[in-house]
Amino acid sequence: MELRHLRYFVAVAEERNFTRAAERLHIAQPPLSRQMQQLEETLGVVLIEKGSRPLRLTEAGQFFLAHAKPLLEQVRDLKSMTQRVGKLERTLTAGFVASTLYGLLPDIIRRYRERHPEVEVTLHEMTTVEQLKALKEGRIDVGFGRLKSEDPSIRRILLRDERMVVALSPGHRLSEKEEGVKLMELIHEPLLVYPKSPRPSFADQVLAAFSTAHLTPDHVTEVRELQIAMGLVAAGQGISIVPESVQGMHQRNVLYRPIQDKHAFSPILFSVRHMDRSPELQNMLAAVYSVYDDLGIAYVEEAL
Ligand code: BEZ
Repeated sequence: MELRHLRYFVAVAEERNFTRAAERLHIAQPPLSRQMQQLEETLGVVLIEKGSRPLRLTEAGQFFLAHAKPLLEQVRDLKSMTQRVGKLERTLTAGFVASTLYGLLPDIIRRYRERHPEVEVTLHEMTTVEQLKALKEGRIDVGFGRLKSEDPSIRRILLRDERMVVALSPGHRLSEKEEGVKLMELIHEPLLVYPKSPRPSFADQVLAAFSTAHLTPDHVTEVRELQIAMGLVAAGQGISIVPESVQGMHQRNVLYRPIQDKHAFSPILFSVRHMDRSPELQNMLAAVYSVYDDLGIAYVEEAL
C-alpha cells in the first residue's frame, strides 16, 4: 500500500463521488477506480459499498478513513518540519503569548543573544493554539505558551507554574486586600477574559479556575487581547484575571492582588516540534533556566 492510495481514498470518501474525486486529484477517473480496486485487493476487504450513489463507505471503509486522514496530516507535517529543521542553522524564530513579554521573556531572549550572538532571533506574538499550528507549518521553532493541549507532533516541557492575580482599578472595594483575594469574592464582578479567539485560550484557563472551585462568574465579557482587557480595567469597566508577570506591564490605573486559591496558577510551556533536537533549542532552554537561577525562581522542568 502506497501513500497515494491513502490520498486517493480520502478524496473519494470525502467527495462521495468518483468524478469529483478525480477532478480534485487532477487525474482521470479510470485510473482512480483502478487504484481503489487495488487498495481493496491489497487489504482484502471492501471499503466502498458497491453501487451506492452517493458513495457510502463500509464499516471497514470508515475505519480506514478515520486512520488515513491523521496519517496524511502527519506526512504533511513531517515534510514542513524537516524542511524547517534543515534550515535552522543560524536562526531561531520564537512564538510567545503576550503575557510573557511583560515578565521574563525579554531577559531570556537577551541572555540567549549574549550567549549566541551569531544566531538571528525573531519573535512573534501569538496564542498557544496559533503556536502549535505555526510549529507544524515550520513558521516558528519554539513556542512559549500556556495551554497543555495534546498533539503527538509537538514536544512540550512545563517550565513553571505562575500564580494568577486579579487586575482591579484603584478604589475598587477589593483593592484594600493586599494579602490577596479568593475567586469566591470575584463572582459578582464584571469579568473581562481574553483572548476571545482562537479557543481554547487563557480565557478558558481562567473560567476553568472558577469551575474547579465550583463557581460561575455572573458577567463574563470576552475581549480580543490582554492589552484591551487591561485598558478596560483601567477605565473601571470590570476586573480581569492575569498571570502575575503581567504586573510588569505597568498599566496606569490598574493594580493587582494575588488570587489565594491553591489551583489558581497558569503554566508556562516550552513547545517544539517532536523530532526537532536542534542545539539551538537546547541552548534556548539553557537560557531560560539560567535566568530562573539568577532570579531564584523555582522551576519544574517536566516533559509533558
Ligand atoms: C517565564 O516567565 O517563565 C518565561 C517567559 C518566557 C519564556 C520562557 C519562560
